[in-house]
Amino acid sequence: MNLPPPVSLDSLYLLADQELEARIQAAKRELGGRCLILGHHYQRQEVYRFADLTGDSLKLARLASQRTEAEYIVFCGVHFMAEVADILSAPRQTVILPDLAAGCSMADMADLPAVQQAWRTLGDWLDCERQITPLTYVNSTADLKAFCGLHGGAVCTSSNAEKLLQWAFSQREKVLFFPDQHLGRNSGYRLGIPLEEMVLWQPSLPNGGLSRAQVEKARIILWEGFCSVHTLFQPVHVQQFRQRHPGIQVMVHPECTLEVCQLADAQGSTEQIQAAVRAAPAGSQWAIGTELNLVNRLKSEMPEKEIHFLCPTLCLCATMFRIDLAHLCWVLENLLQDHVINRIHVPPREAEAARLALERMLNVV
Ligand code: 13P
Ligand code: SF4
Repeated sequence: MNLPPPVSLDSLYLLADQELEARIQAAKRELGGRCLILGHHYQRQEVYRFADLTGDSLKLARLASQRTEAEYIVFCGVHFMAEVADILSAPRQTVILPDLAAGCSMADMADLPAVQQAWRTLGDWLDCERQITPLTYVNSTADLKAFCGLHGGAVCTSSNAEKLLQWAFSQREKVLFFPDQHLGRNSGYRLGIPLEEMVLWQPSLPNGGLSRAQVEKARIILWEGFCSVHTLFQPVHVQQFRQRHPGIQVMVHPECTLEVCQLADAQGSTEQIQAAVRAAPAGSQWAIGTELNLVNRLKSEMPEKEIHFLCPTLCLCATMFRIDLAHLCWVLENLLQDHVINRIHVPPREAEAARLALERMLNVV
């Protein structure tokens, strides 16, 4: 039998948005229950509206583990999220990321050889397997999750990092937290750990730039990673809003720096930010420190509230933005012809070890 040729991405870029939207609708209708589209809150609105289910990283991970009926999961988000969906979904399900270049620059700041090197170096000073729990932020590659799975550690997300830190301390006296130093520091600080007991591991320096005495005294060893979007929010932005809008509530994502988080009224994951603003009364004033697409969506969804973006410059996640109508249409129309493109598949042994670390998280929260 002659199959029709695969739909090319280039041909779709020649179409107007309305036509792409109509074709996505039609493809979705035809695929029906065979295909589930998951969308992260940072997706641009024109893509987000096609998601069957939306959420933060934790919610989307849970959904991927629960929705076992769909044959395909099309993940509108970034690479590590699609990897988690592949690890937690049923073996017969196929996970697709519409643009393989949709990565996360923070996740790229820690890689397995560098973490293994840190573990070996720390092992010269401590008994790592007895004294240090490795805890990885979900914004990390699958092999780092597998590393945590194999070394008694776990995964955390922005909505549960404090709980997972408590869990990690219930296992061993110290934590190696990667890749986001800010989420680790903010969460440790909220648990009452003094700043001098949280040290920074700089992978480019010999011994991470630390002495044996510093490591022995530390409770949390923070990897030197950060989100280039959330570190754009500055304390002065919070101060400006407080001056100009007395009574305004400032809520930020915990990937922001400690200084910004300390000045804010609240911090939370994208789902928690959305829930807090939705629950607030009409007329309330908000300044939100997280990615622009989510803040703009909250603004248009709730015109009866005064919602501001905390930063005067564009804090936009360029990799989340890579998923556009053309890419979504491309993968869906190819599925209609049984062409699976941009599949995310974590090798089975790595997936098994990473699942251990993810399940430890899901059992704690
Ligand atoms: P959430 O889990 O809060 O959605 O965060 C994901 C993320 O990448 C934030 O930058
Ligand atoms: Fe990664 Fe930051 Fe983008 Fe989140 S906002 S996906 S942490 S680069």
